[in-house]
Amino acid sequence: MNKSKIAIIGLAVMGQNLARNIANNGHKISVYNRTTKVMNEFIDEYGSENLEGYEDLCTLAKSLEKPRIIGLMIKSGPAIDSVIESITQFLEDGDIIVDFGNSNYQDTIKREKKLKEKNLKFFGCGVSGGEEGALNGPSLMPGGDKETYECIEPILKSIAAKDFKGKDCVTYLGQDGSGHYLKMVHNGIEYGIMQMMAEVYGILKNGFGLKAGEISKIFANYNEGKLKSYLCEIAVPILAKKEGEDYLIDKVLDSAAQKGTGRLTAIESLERGVGLSVITQSVYARVYSSFKNTRTELSKLYEKGTHKIEDDLEEFTKILENALYIGVIISYAQGFRLLEVASDEQNWDLNFSEISRIWQGGCIIRAKVLESFETLFVSGEKNLLKMPEVAKYINENIDDLRYVVGLSAMNALPTLSLSSALNSFEYITQERSTANFIQGLRDYFGAHTFKRTDKEGTFHSEW
Ligand code: 6PG
Repeated sequence: MNKSKIAIIGLAVMGQNLARNIANNGHKISVYNRTTKVMNEFIDEYGSENLEGYEDLCTLAKSLEKPRIIGLMIKSGPAIDSVIESITQFLEDGDIIVDFGNSNYQDTIKREKKLKEKNLKFFGCGVSGGEEGALNGPSLMPGGDKETYECIEPILKSIAAKDFKGKDCVTYLGQDGSGHYLKMVHNGIEYGIMQMMAEVYGILKNGFGLKAGEISKIFANYNEGKLKSYLCEIAVPILAKKEGEDYLIDKVLDSAAQKGTGRLTAIESLERGVGLSVITQSVYARVYSSFKNTRTELSKLYEKGTHKIEDDLEEFTKILENALYIGVIISYAQGFRLLEVASDEQNWDLNFSEISRIWQGGCIIRAKVLESFETLFVSGEKNLLKMPEVAKYINENIDDLRYVVGLSAMNALPTLSLSSALNSFEYITQERSTANFIQGLRDYFGAHTFKRTDKEGTFHSEW
């Protein structure tokens, strides 16, 4: 009997679809699930010569070519450690475990070290694209030992989505947890963009009184232009979906869930000292949204009346498009800034042009703008806001973001992420900030000292 090239452990929808994708691309694959019934049902439906199920880890391990490649598609956290614990007894020197989940990169680093002591390889590979991407081509973000990558590269390349030029959306990123780190930042950017889109929806719905179907058409329009992206594309059917006379979206509870990668990105930004205001505010927005009862109570205490924006809608949607586009650029710029700092501190040597390329297909944040980023990053400059092309666009259109944020504020429409994109931009592009005043206050109450602009040294004043 021919041995399998790879195994997948974990047959929730993502695992099932990844396994089918691997089998559909001509690789023999073995699968296992803790609940055998799930595996049997999956095999009944999709089993083939290339896709076989196993009821226990020992026979699963025996079914594999050496070095064995075992892919994990299970919930991040302790479940990963317990599977590693159970499977390692059936593995031999040089065998490889690949974690395809949304694991914390620090856990990936620890697991790699721990398994190295047992002469086993542990490798982290971020997978983006949801259920559909896993089946038809995800964006893959692999990080870890280079030789290990080379063993799994042919499989990864064959299942990945394609970029705008038809190349595979996968590239070797760097050592240890870099793949999972990149996936975490990807998700952070995803949170930021989704929040800004929700703010745009809120302005059109509550400021202009538009129905979901009308907003759907505006997103359809945006998706024809510079904002062309997967998220704008799916906004169209989501907002247009009807249930009888009503729009489904109007009946969806306004409380957003989160699995934690956005929060992790925000925590990382604080720990590494990188301003990630758009992403962080988008996490807060989800947090506020989840306190539905409190919001309902407070809305009665702080009744705001109805604010209707009187602007010409057609004109305004163009302004809003520019504002959202700048917000998207700033969200990416902040995400890349965190990657730059992490890459330096961890010695990953991340290639930003390649990252912009592998995000062009399959993943949730795939967008037309990534084509420009791929080209711009070739220069070696890593800060998007320092690039003349980006500066030109922002200089010409930033007033639109200022207008949208100002108008929203005047009309009691919250723009947590759009306003923080704007405010962080205003702050980091001013030559002289107001932090001199902070220093004065610190020195007054705590003799914390300050530096001066007119002479060298450290000073304290009796203010
Ligand atoms: C992807 C998605 C995927 C998942 C998120 C959802 O890239 O395919 O980001 O990883 O849908 O984890 O995250 P939240 O539940 O935190 O929104």
